[in-house]
Amino acid sequence: KPTDDKPYFLKGVPVPETPLPGEDPKPWKQTSVVGKPLPRTDGYERVSGAAVYPSDVLLPDMLYGAILRCPYPNARVKSIDISVAERLPGVRAVITGSTPGADLKWSYGDGVSAKLFDPHCRFEGEAVAAVAAETPYQASDALQAIEVKYDVLPFVVDERKAAESGAPAVHQKGNRVAAPTKYERGDVEKGFAEADVVLEEEYRTECELHTPLELHGCVAKWDHNQLTIWESTQGVYAVQSKVAEVLGLPLAKVRVIGHYVGGGFGSKLRAGKYTVIAALLAAKAARPVKLFLSREETFVTCGNRPPTNMKLKAGVKKDGTLTALQLTVTGTGGAFPAGGVSLVDWQVRDLYTCPNVRTEATDFYTHTGPARPFRAPGHPQGSWALEQMLDALAEKIDMDPVELRLKNIPLFSQARDGKPKYSSTGLKECLETGAKAFGWADARKNRSASQPGHLRRGVGMAACLWFVGGGGPPSTIVLKLFADGSANLNMGASDIGTGTKTIMAMVVSEELGVDPSKIFIENADTGTTQFATPSGGSKTIPTESPAVRAAAIEVKRQLLAMAAQDLKVDASRLAMKEGSIYISNEPSRTVKISDVAGLKKRGVIVGVGYRGPNPANLVVNPFGAQFCEVQVDVRTGEIEILRFVAAHESGRVMNRLTFDSQVIGGITMGIGLASTEFRVLDANETGKLCNRNWHDYKLPTSLDITENITSVPVEILDNEANSTGAKGLGEPVTIPTAAAIANAVYNATGIRITHTPINPVQLS
Ligand code: MOS
Repeated sequence: KPTDDKPYFLKGVPVPETPLPGEDPKPWKQTSVVGKPLPRTDGYERVSGAAVYPSDVLLPDMLYGAILRCPYPNARVKSIDISVAERLPGVRAVITGSTPGADLKWSYGDGVSAKLFDPHCRFEGEAVAAVAAETPYQASDALQAIEVKYDVLPFVVDERKAAESGAPAVHQKGNRVAAPTKYERGDVEKGFAEADVVLEEEYRTECELHTPLELHGCVAKWDHNQLTIWESTQGVYAVQSKVAEVLGLPLAKVRVIGHYVGGGFGSKLRAGKYTVIAALLAAKAARPVKLFLSREETFVTCGNRPPTNMKLKAGVKKDGTLTALQLTVTGTGGAFPAGGVSLVDWQVRDLYTCPNVRTEATDFYTHTGPARPFRAPGHPQGSWALEQMLDALAEKIDMDPVELRLKNIPLFSQARDGKPKYSSTGLKECLETGAKAFGWADARKNRSASQPGHLRRGVGMAACLWFVGGGGPPSTIVLKLFADGSANLNMGASDIGTGTKTIMAMVVSEELGVDPSKIFIENADTGTTQFATPSGGSKTIPTESPAVRAAAIEVKRQLLAMAAQDLKVDASRLAMKEGSIYISNEPSRTVKISDVAGLKKRGVIVGVGYRGPNPANLVVNPFGAQFCEVQVDVRTGEIEILRFVAAHESGRVMNRLTFDSQVIGGITMGIGLASTEFRVLDANETGKLCNRNWHDYKLPTSLDITENITSVPVEILDNEANSTGAKGLGEPVTIPTAAAIANAVYNATGIRITHTPINPVQLS
């Protein structure tokens, strides 16, 4: 259980001065709470089962919903017979596209319009009908009793085949999603001509599936014409707007609550069909309906990290100057690709100084489930190619790979119009700090000598930037300080498990001197909390924390004005520390928050804070560098990851404990891309997903990762970015991991694996 001791205040550090109304808060000079390793304020609830996740919600009279899904990758529904299913015991509602009110449009967000129950199913798992019954078992029996006749059509599930002429078309317009996305600066041909070394290589990353612990789904309940939804989501307002749009309801009639979410990784950034289907079932049955998907259903319908095929050509001078980079990418975002291969080229465009860059990315439709954003979308794939290429170039010019990167540190964003500067760039510091902490120079020396025996060790590294991560408006925060000195922080954003709420409590604590354990957070409820954009893109801390700080400062301004009356001094002479207000040059004259007369009388002080705009003409991006050591058994191809050192620069470190946890989590996810995770589709016979569960789809587990992950934060207080100086952290960490492992495997064995996953099959 959490204890009541207060180890998080530094002795002798006063709470920061209060800015005058309308004045921007000054950057914190020294902090007493922010930056410390504070365990999650809701940690006990999360691990003890006290936290009510949406999948835990049980309502009186609640029914269980289930969706009948098309078993084919491409088929037309000829007929549906629900007459038997409707008569089964316990069945309270059965709906199809011809049920009144259920013939609804559905857009996956890519401009291709479809229907909620579309008669043409373009991927395995597309929704065909749905039921609600008294028990999950009765719902499942009812699904089996629905008789559907399909016209089974030819399919293409591999994007390399979808690109060929004569491949079955997914949509009428053919399989090419649109004209390729092209980017160009300088003159790459000239750049290659100027280079001393030019290399060209093909790379491929396999498709990864989202695997949050809590499955996708919701509970839907109607009160007259007001809809309440408890949904496992990264953004309650995003779900609200999608549901309201599809059902034709005013936003005010749709309340979405998502106090906890058991992981999302991008796949829960917006509503799925299941949410609208649950609402329709609840309306038809006039009972609340719980509809959570199975692991198989989420695998086929709830998104993925799309596969990519990349060809990268790079030129470098003997002194390490990059002269040209050229990347072509093909991939697929499935039948309704919101995303696809976009952003795969961003590392190539912007990570290193290079005057001549050309990239081209083409998406193909396939008969597979729609891609959704997947932790740093596109970036780990691009990193897989670029960072291995840099390793190969370094070897050719006989330069250390860290040295080569240090030669090409970017000073501004080359890929953006007007070439704006970064608010802070810690790439150089990440490379230097990480290399030192890892012992890179010595490790490289020791590894280069040929190793006898069957166990070969090697070291590798890779760097990254994340193309967003600065956050921005809008965000509104309401903070209430009660007469007993406890506070209620009201925030629309979700805490997706990363520790967002804890960090916000720390910000309030920093300003008001109230212990974080006395700050209660109400969040992610469109009915009671302020508007927030979804928690995604690693932007939640830089978006929300300045608004929280502004709200806390507003509360403090009012409180000090009240205390000034009690102490009969001017408010400008007052400061706060550990729940008390004192006169700056008379530290003995103090008043406790709970004794302030004005607060006692009013009962509560309310402060509102807004997220201000980002600095004009500056780009706010996080940077990082990772170093790893592996051991390869050359008899079996088995790889053991021995250690990782990760140096990430994400502005201010808000909470050292959750910072390090994000580093461990991001690297673990990157190990999955590098060595264990890949979707297997039966491309020839059935077009179906073969690895449909956690037994066959292998996530990295304890024996695949290493306990030896060292986080060495590179802290640059980014006072240009926002008033807390923080940038995003979660997603950047997963970008360079796979490439660093591939480089270490090459260093150990001399074998370059250009196609994920690196496993014994590929190494033998
Ligand atoms: Mo991120 S793709 O919003 O987890």
